[in-house]
Parts: sequence; structure tokens; C-alpha cells
Amino acid sequence: MSYKIAVVVGSLRAESFNRQLANALVKLAPQGFELALSRIDDLPLYNQDDDKNQAAPVQRLKGELTAAQGVLFVTPEYNRSIPGVLKNAIDHASRPYGQSAWAGKPAGVIGISIGSIATAAAQQHLRTVLAYLDMPTLGQPEMFLQTKPGLFGPDGSIAMDDTKQFLQKFLETYAAWVKFHSDKVANR
Ligand SMILES: Cc1cc2nc3c(=O)[nH]c(=O)nc-3n(C[C@H](O)[C@H](O)[C@H](O)COP(=O)(O)O)c2cc1C
Repeated sequence: MSYKIAVVVGSLRAESFNRQLANALVKLAPQGFELALSRIDDLPLYNQDDDKNQAAPVQRLKGELTAAQGVLFVTPEYNRSIPGVLKNAIDHASRPYGQSAWAGKPAGVIGISIGSIATAAAQQHLRTVLAYLDMPTLGQPEMFLQTKPGLFGPDGSIAMDDTKQFLQKFLETYAAWVKFHSDKVANR
């Protein structure tokens, strides 16, 4: 079986370090796993009035999540919390009530920042939201990356061997987490 992982990036910035990291993780996917980025930049602002008629980009996102066996969040921290664009995407795909596309999907959380405490505060807030959404979320290893010059090579892959090994270990642990939980998701 091939496992699909939807990767949701919490930054819309063209040169986003988190998107660069997400694209590098796609290249490091463990055997049998396929990582693909899910767009969130074209989602409207969430409005509960639209639950009965969700916009096409919302339906697309929900379809991608439903088809995936897991969700990997790659996010910056904004003002010590979750960027609004990410929370907007989370809220969209959690609705209508009872039809959340997140429920049961095993989640991983990782982030990169220019700041020395990286994305720790945002990740803690995100974990609170994911618990409510009933997403079993990998606890360890925590992944708080601080960006450095030369981290990404010219082809976008991770150019520093120690960081690359660290990320591979994280992805292998997350892959095992997804395998462990995916049977439960299939039986929901
Ligand atoms: C509105 C805003 C708030 C920010 N707040 C934080 C913060 O609380 N902690 C932090 O480490 N960096 C913070 N930053 C800096 C981001 O870490 C930095 O801009 C990072 O590059 C954003 O991620 P991206 O490169 O994926 O877009 C903030 C940036 C913006 C634009």
C-alpha cells in the first residue's frame, strides 16, 4: 500500500521558509509514502453561512484530506500563535458540523522560523486545536527549526547533512505513526 500525506503549509509568502522546508520534505519521503502540498491560498475567509454551500477550493482541500492517510503541518509562528491562514484552512475543513475532513487523520507538526525559539509556541497552540479535531498527533520528536544560510541547496533540498538526517528520522517516525493509526481511520 502507498500512503498519501497531505502537507499543509501555514505561510502564503512566495519565499516562505516553511514552504521550502515542505518541498524538501516531499523529496525525503520514506519508501511507500507520497507527500503532496495542499493549497490553502485560495480559500475564502471562513463564514459559517457558507457551510451548506462550500466554495470549490474548500471542497478541493477536503477531498485531498479525505484521500490522505495523514496530514503534516509545516508552519511558521505569528505573534506566538498559529498564522491566521492556517487557522482559516483548519476551520473550513472542519465543517459542516459532523463532516470534518480532519477527524482521525494522524498528524505531524514541524516548523521553521528566523527566531531562536523557532515555532514552539505556535506548535503548542496547533496541538490544542488538533486534539479537539480528533487527530492523533505525533509527540516526539518535536521539530523546531531555525533557518540558517545554506540550509537549502540550489535544487531546494536540505544541504546540511546533520539537519537532513534529523528530518529523515522525523519522517520515518511519523510514517510509522501513520501506519499505526491508518487502520483505525479506515474503519471509522
Ligand atoms: C505577522 C508576523 C508575526 C511573527 N511572529 C513571530 C513569532 O511570534 N515568532 C517567531 O519565531 N517569528 C515570528 N515572525 C517571523 C517569522 O518567523 C518569519 O517571518 C518567518 O520567515 C515566517 O515563515 P515563512 O518564511 O514560512 O513565511 C513573525 C512574522 C510575521 C510576518
